[in-house]
Amino acid sequence: MCAIVGYVGQAQALQIGLEALERMEYRGYDSAGIAVVQKGALHVEKKEGKLANLLEQVDHIGRDNFTGTTCIGHTRWATHGRPNDVNAHPHVSFDGKAAIVHNGIIENFATLREEVENAGIEMTSETDSEVAAHLLALAYNDGPTAGDFEASALAVLRRLDGAFTVLFTHCDHPGTIVAGRRSTPLIVGVGDGETFLGSDVAAFIAHTKKAVELGQDNAVIITADGYRTTDFDGNDVECTPFTIDWDLEAAEKGGFDSFMMKEIHEQPAAVRDTLAGHFVDGRIVLDEQRLSDEDLRGVEKVFVVACGSAYHSGLLAKYAIEHWVRVPVEIEVASEFRYRDPVLDQRTLVLAVSQSGETADTLEAVRHAKTQGARVLAVCNTNGSQIPRESDAVLYTHAGPEIGVASTKAFLAQVAANYLVGLALAQARGTKFADEIADIYNALEALPEKIEKVLKLREQILELSKELRPVKTMLFLGRYVGFPVALEGALKLKELAYIHAEGFAAGELKHGPIALIEEGLPVVVVVPSPTGRPVLHSKIVSNIQEIRARGARTIVIAEEGDAAVEPFANYLLRIPNTSSLMQPLLSTVPLQFLAADIARECGNQDIDKPRNLAKSVTVE
Ligand code: M6R
Repeated sequence: MCAIVGYVGQAQALQIGLEALERMEYRGYDSAGIAVVQKGALHVEKKEGKLANLLEQVDHIGRDNFTGTTCIGHTRWATHGRPNDVNAHPHVSFDGKAAIVHNGIIENFATLREEVENAGIEMTSETDSEVAAHLLALAYNDGPTAGDFEASALAVLRRLDGAFTVLFTHCDHPGTIVAGRRSTPLIVGVGDGETFLGSDVAAFIAHTKKAVELGQDNAVIITADGYRTTDFDGNDVECTPFTIDWDLEAAEKGGFDSFMMKEIHEQPAAVRDTLAGHFVDGRIVLDEQRLSDEDLRGVEKVFVVACGSAYHSGLLAKYAIEHWVRVPVEIEVASEFRYRDPVLDQRTLVLAVSQSGETADTLEAVRHAKTQGARVLAVCNTNGSQIPRESDAVLYTHAGPEIGVASTKAFLAQVAANYLVGLALAQARGTKFADEIADIYNALEALPEKIEKVLKLREQILELSKELRPVKTMLFLGRYVGFPVALEGALKLKELAYIHAEGFAAGELKHGPIALIEEGLPVVVVVPSPTGRPVLHSKIVSNIQEIRARGARTIVIAEEGDAAVEPFANYLLRIPNTSSLMQPLLSTVPLQFLAADIARECGNQDIDKPRNLAKSVTVE
C-alpha cells in the first residue's frame, strides 16, 4: 500500500529521499511528502496526488534550501481520510518538533485519538497516523521517557494495535531515526557512512546492496554510522542481513516508456529464471520448498488462496494439479476464504500465491489455514516478505522486481511455479512416470522462446487498439485453461483502461451473457490448440460463430496453423503451438499488450499507476 523511506548520512537527504520515493511510488500515489531534519528544525513538504506534484513544490521552494542530512518520506494509498494535502504524510506533532510517516492501519486509533484530544491537542487530519506524531511528542516532553527520543518512540510503538511500519524523527535528534514494524515490511539498507530505510529494497538499491530485514514487532534505530535492532521494549534482537541480488537497472525502465512494458518484455526471463534449477538429474527439485516427499504423499486436498491475478494463476494450478496428480484442488479468493469455514486439516496443502508476499487477505488466509492445522506452501516473488515468513514452506518465483501495478511477469512466473508444485506432487505420489514429468518440464522450458515470439505481436496490437477506439465495454471468452486467461485479460483491461470488461467461460455465454452482445462489441476469444483436445477447439469455434452472428467484432487468439477460426475472426492474433496446459503462458501476453494499448487510447497514459490502485494491498 503506502511506501515509507528514511535516510541518515552525509549527503543532502532531500535528494536521496525524493529519489527513493520515485522508486517506491508504485506502492501508492494518492499523495507524497518528505520531512527533512535540519538545523534543529523540521522542514516538511507534502502534496496531494502523484510524486510529480511534490517535486514541483520542492523545486518552487528551491532544493538548495533543504540542507539537512536526515529525512523521512512517504507515498500514500489512502485508507483513513481522503487523498489531500492535509492527510498526506509526514504528520507533525502539536509542538512542531516531531514528524512521523506510517504505512498500514492503526486499529486502536479511535482510543488514541480521544486520548490525544483529551490532552488538549487538536487533530488536523482525518488519518489514523497523525496520533503517532502527537503521542511521540507527549512521551518526549513529559513522563518516564522525557527527553529520550528512542525510549519515547518505542513507548509509542508499544501502544499501537494493527499492522504498521512507523518512522519517527525529532528535531532535537537530527542524526537519528527510530522505526518499528508489525505485519508490514521494513528493510534497513546499510551503506558506508549512511543508513537507509525502505518498505522494500528499491528505496536504496542505488546506494547499497547490503540489507537487513526486520522481524515481527522489531524496531530499529539508525544513524549515519549504522543501526541497532531491538524489540518494542528496547531489548537487542538479531535480524538477518542479506545481500540484494538484483541491481539498479532491474528497478528502472531500461529504455521502455513504462515499467509495465518493460515487465511484459521481461516475461521470457521471468519464466526461465523461475524454472531454473528445479529439474535436476531427471527429477523436480523444489529446493526452497522445505516439504518432504513424504509430506507431499500425505496430501489429500490442495487449496489455493490468492487475490487478483495471483488468483487467476491459482485457477490454472487447479487444472494442472487435478490432471497430473488426481487430488482435488479447491481455489478461493483469499478475502472470502476464512469467512466461510473451509474444510481443512493436516492433510490439506494450502498454496498461497502472492507476488508481494504482503497482501493482507492472503496473509490472513494463511494464518487461518495454519490454525486449522493445514500445511502452507507460499509461491512468492518477494524474498523474506510476510507470507513466506508465516508459511511452512516457500517456492520463490524469480520474476525480479515488478513495479507496474498491473501484474504481468509475476503472473506468468506464478503459473510456472504453480505448475512446478503440481509436478513435484505428481512425482512424489507417482501419478506420472518420470518420462512424462520430463516431457512436461521440457514443454515448460520451451516456453520462454515462444513468449519471445508472442512479444512480436506488439505492433499488430497497437494498430488493433487504435481501430477499436472508442471502446466502452469488452468481453473475453475462453474454455478450459482459456477461461482463467479470459478473466485475467478482463482484469487487465479494467484496471488499466477503466472500462467495463468481463471474462466468461465460453460455454456459459448462452446462459445469459450473450444478451450483452450487440453490433460492434469487441469480444476477445482465446482458442485452445486444435491438436490438444479437439472437442474443446470445435466447441469454441461454434461459440465464435454465435457471437459473430449477433454483431460482435471478434478478436481471436489462436495457434499458428489453426485455419478453422479464420472465417470468423475480425482480428486474428497468432501464437506458437504448445500443449493445452501451457497455452496460458502464451495467450495471456497479447491481452496484456491489448489492455495497455487500449488504456492509452482511452486517455490513461500512466499505465504503471492506474487510479485507485496500489501494488501491495496491505489492508483487508
Ligand atoms: O501481491 P499479490 O500477488 O498478492 O497481489 C494480488 C493482487 O492484488 C494483484 O494480482 C492485483 O490483482 C494486480 N493489480 C493485478 O494486475
